[in-house]
Amino acid sequence: MVILCTADLPADLEALVGAPVTRVAAADLPDAIGQADALICLLTHRIDATLLDRAPRLRVVANYAVGFDNVDVAAATARGICVSNTPDVLTEATADLTFALLLAAARRLGEGERLVRSGGWAGWEPGQLLGADVWGRTLGLIGLGRIGQAVARRGRGFGMEILYSAPRSVAAAAALGAVHLPLADLLGRADFVSVHCPLTPATRHLLDRAALARLRPTAIVVNTSRGPIIDEAALAEALAAGRLAGAGLDVFEAEPRVHPDLLRCHRAILAPHLGSATTTARRRMAELCASAVRAVLSGEQPANLVNPEVWPSARARSS
Ligand code: DGY
Repeated sequence: MVILCTADLPADLEALVGAPVTRVAAADLPDAIGQADALICLLTHRIDATLLDRAPRLRVVANYAVGFDNVDVAAATARGICVSNTPDVLTEATADLTFALLLAAARRLGEGERLVRSGGWAGWEPGQLLGADVWGRTLGLIGLGRIGQAVARRGRGFGMEILYSAPRSVAAAAALGAVHLPLADLLGRADFVSVHCPLTPATRHLLDRAALARLRPTAIVVNTSRGPIIDEAALAEALAAGRLAGAGLDVFEAEPRVHPDLLRCHRAILAPHLGSATTTARRRMAELCASAVRAVLSGEQPANLVNPEVWPSARARSS
């Protein structure tokens, strides 16, 4: 069995998988994939139909992320290839980072830190770097899946009113006291808008220029989901014009490139896609990838298949 991995995951990955794992550079993937039975890959690697066409033996793509917009799942399914992701294990870590960005943007921590480090801080002043209250304000969540719900729980801890928009109402919302609203209404009412929907053709630029124009000038936007859900140029423009009070961004449209206007924007807190970056979450993500590979290669259905409909044909390929 040839198991490829496009990143340096934990040193005991082979023990977790129970078989040798070959490290391959992403650039070498098109050449190497032809021999592979399994692939562990990152969200930064595009696994498309062209690549899958070169992979006649491939039985599983274990994506080291909960989001899987980098994988052409339909193309994988059509070829009998399982695709797995890493849900649950990074939910709380990502919700923590979301709240860190929300608080940092509200209380202007980036500007404060830069001021102290520059040596330019002349001491306490009554009007210095005044920010927004978080306690008791309104939190608007775009998407109320696992991570959205975890952010809602944190919002409740801050005495916030919770609104959410989603294609349909979510059963868990009632227990969270979260109120379902159309996106346009949510944008007009929320003090903080946080993005927690997956990137799909329908959500690309969901927050475009027109949607951003609905926000209050005091509003703060947070994104720990996927960059292309927000039109970055329009966001930078709104921030620069003072039509928006701030932003906390962990994800960007063309990572690792960040729109130059956002880099210039002092009211934006920018993080390098750190949502799941805790030791525990990253370890557990590796474990989930390893268990998906182990399962498929031994003819068992893995727990985290994003294309469960593939299983009958995938199982047939393994017998
Ligand atoms: C994911 O899992 O989708 C995050 O973006 C990285 O952990």
